[in-house]
Amino acid sequence: MGKIICFVSGKGGVGKTTSVANVGVALALLGNETLVIDADLGLRNLDLALGLQDAVVYDLLDVSSGVCTTAEAMIHSDKYPNLWFMPASQFKEQTTITAEEMQLVADLVRDTYDFILIDCPAGLNETVSSVGAVSDMGIIVVQPEPFSLRDGDRAAEFIAKAGIQDIRLLVNRYKKELVQTGKMLNILQVIEKMAIQIIGAIPDDDEVLLSGIQGEPLVINQNAAVSKYYLDTAERILGKQIPLTEIQPKKSFFKKMFGK
Ligand SMILES: Nc1ncnc2c1ncn2[C@@H]1O[C@H](COP(=O)(O)OP(=O)(O)OP(=O)(O)O)[C@@H](O)[C@H]1O
Ligand SMILES: [Mg+2]
Repeated sequence: MGKIICFVSGKGGVGKTTSVANVGVALALLGNETLVIDADLGLRNLDLALGLQDAVVYDLLDVSSGVCTTAEAMIHSDKYPNLWFMPASQFKEQTTITAEEMQLVADLVRDTYDFILIDCPAGLNETVSSVGAVSDMGIIVVQPEPFSLRDGDRAAEFIAKAGIQDIRLLVNRYKKELVQTGKMLNILQVIEKMAIQIIGAIPDDDEVLLSGIQGEPLVINQNAAVSKYYLDTAERILGKQIPLTEIQPKKSFFKKMFGK
């Protein structure tokens, strides 16, 4: 049975879609059959992040309403072995997905893939609640700044209420220079503030931004410096205990990170 993992944030624009695309491709590169679902109805972007916008015919709501089969909605490109993509609707009047509709889709795909990553819309709404109800793990994406951390806390409470027990933190876009000069929170300080087990930390890097513009997740280029951070995150999802590169871990840190 596949593991369903949703990517959530309170605040918008923190890097959910970019993270789903890169961590999804990383899991696929590591040999896992992986499905990425865009649940950001009306404001979809995952198709662009993967460069698959021209291949979109059917979408998530077509699957949940029986307009098409799961197989018909699924997009696959030879660029990404082991990866499948189910897009969100863009022009439909319905802009959220109900718990029943999401349950139906989850039941249809769960047994076919090792991992199903779901890109949620920003904010805390019906879609996030419906996705949360079918997810085994929730990844809260934050940037290391106060607004994002506060909203991340709210998001964690929200998906816990939706039924997710395994909640992890992905710190995105930390700037090494600002951390070094004490102007930005370091990863340990973020972990202390959030009190959520961390699953990964991704630096701010223009290559990530550019790969988003080009429509090809950076991690596909395994030589790019930042690819390692996405691959490490994927390995941790697989259960490997890989220390974060950016910190000298203390024993208490390992306890928080791995619960050991
Ligand atoms: N680690 C990173 N380094 C540099 N740029 C990044 C990084 N992660 C994301 N970005 C950029 O930040 C912008 C917002 O990212 P993204 O669209 O993934 O956020 P989001 O949380 O999905 O937004 P929304 O809430 O609107 O759905 C994009 O331009 C993306 O390329
Ligand atoms: Mg997004």
